[in-house]
Amino acid sequence: ATTDGSSGHLALQILHALSESDPILSQEAFPKSSFAEVKAALDRLASREMINYDTIEREEAILEPEGEQIAANGSHEARVFEALRQAMDGLTLQELEKAIGDKNVAKVGQSKAFKEKWISRTKEGKFKAAAESIKDVTSEQIQTIKTTRTHPDAKVIADLKKRKLIRMQKIISFKIHKGPKFALKIAKEETDLTADMIASGAWKTATFKPYNFKALGADQNAGALHPLNKVRHEFRQIFFEMGFEEMPTNKFVESGFWNFDALFVPQQHPARDLQDTFYISDPKQASKPGAASPDDKQDYEEYWNNVRQVHETGKFGSIGYRYPWSPEESLRLVLRTHTTAISTAMLYKLAARKGPDGRPPPARYFSIDRVFRNETVDATHLAEFHQVEGVIADYNLTLGGLMEFMDVFFGKMGITDLMYKPAYNPYTEPSMEIFSYHKGLNKLVEIGNSGMFRPEMLESMGLPKDMKVYGWGLSLERPTMIKYGISNIRELLGHKVDLNFIERNPAVRLEKD
Ligand code: PHE
Repeated sequence: ATTDGSSGHLALQILHALSESDPILSQEAFPKSSFAEVKAALDRLASREMINYDTIEREEAILEPEGEQIAANGSHEARVFEALRQAMDGLTLQELEKAIGDKNVAKVGQSKAFKEKWISRTKEGKFKAAAESIKDVTSEQIQTIKTTRTHPDAKVIADLKKRKLIRMQKIISFKIHKGPKFALKIAKEETDLTADMIASGAWKTATFKPYNFKALGADQNAGALHPLNKVRHEFRQIFFEMGFEEMPTNKFVESGFWNFDALFVPQQHPARDLQDTFYISDPKQASKPGAASPDDKQDYEEYWNNVRQVHETGKFGSIGYRYPWSPEESLRLVLRTHTTAISTAMLYKLAARKGPDGRPPPARYFSIDRVFRNETVDATHLAEFHQVEGVIADYNLTLGGLMEFMDVFFGKMGITDLMYKPAYNPYTEPSMEIFSYHKGLNKLVEIGNSGMFRPEMLESMGLPKDMKVYGWGLSLERPTMIKYGISNIRELLGHKVDLNFIERNPAVRLEKD
């Protein structure tokens, strides 16, 4: 906002100079003004199209202190010669130093003067003059540079530079022309169109200040999305794009039934240990499945019994685990260890739906939400994380179809060349861990767990035998950490997170190649 002041004054001077001759060179017309002042004034006039200017860059030769010394007193060799010319019997080095009053000049000067054959030695080893007169070429060159800031002979410049008598300096100057709106006065520029201007008609003749689209905006004092939210948004887009419906995950507490038993996880399974799962101490027990929603018409009692039998004695062609199944264990309350508990409830609902052919219709569900595991907290593990989960229910699905789907799904976020490793989940058969080669980390990283849900789980719900269900899960944290280059999970979640990082981190795209 340089409305007036020095740049205003200089701007007027520039206009007046231009009215006398066009173009003008800034360093000639305004040798005393600084580069910054001239530039500010020029930009001000150029933004109003009153002038145009070109920037000219060139190099000038500047005298170093030793060069200045030569400009004032002559070259070192000339001073040595002059001192010796006046001493008829010659001088010792010490006497020469004293006569010149500068040790360095005496030392450098005598050696150069020898080379020029201006001086020689007497029998006693003293220095003496050896010429009638000399021409101090160096001094002349230095004088030329002092007055013109350059020298016609490029070799001279190179030589003086090597001798460290001069240095080169980049000089930026401007060649200034009149512009289409050239005038001798600078009109006041309006920054706002006001009601008064409209009423009085002053807007018709007013000069408006152009928008500065290059100006950086002021920092907004606003909230910011957490990186996990940004990556979550990208995943949701991919799921919606592929025809998935989002599951309601708005509860962190589940019964053992939904989290484990319905998934054919035996009650002795290590995942159900205190070391792996958080149990709720108050209240201790859940009500039986379905008891909390009396309007729900599904037969939860039958489902409960199926689950019990499939564990205890086997059913639907399975021999089961053959252990006494405990209803109390099944009604213990847990912080859900995976969102597969929600998928299970959704699939049970699906089993009751009737499509056009009277059978449950194909379905695609996904969720992205928090799960809890009783883990030792370290750089890559927290006791809670976010799980991205998907399930696809359809008739006659095959494992090949699951692999093909994974290629497409992960391909949409730029993850290609998947590799699969046989794995084990109590609720899927077959099960596969999904790996991908990570270029940044230069190694294979596990990106997900997947499988086809077991008949013990699906048939207990009443889903038809030929309806197969794919399921897979991955953490939201891993791709987020890779994306934002974070190596410690505590920088992403929890009380050690730097709020500046959250505010500043950029939007994210899971880029598609
Ligand atoms: N529940 C699994 C996990 O927590 C993910 C998964 C879901 C695997 C569905 C297979 C099928 O890792």
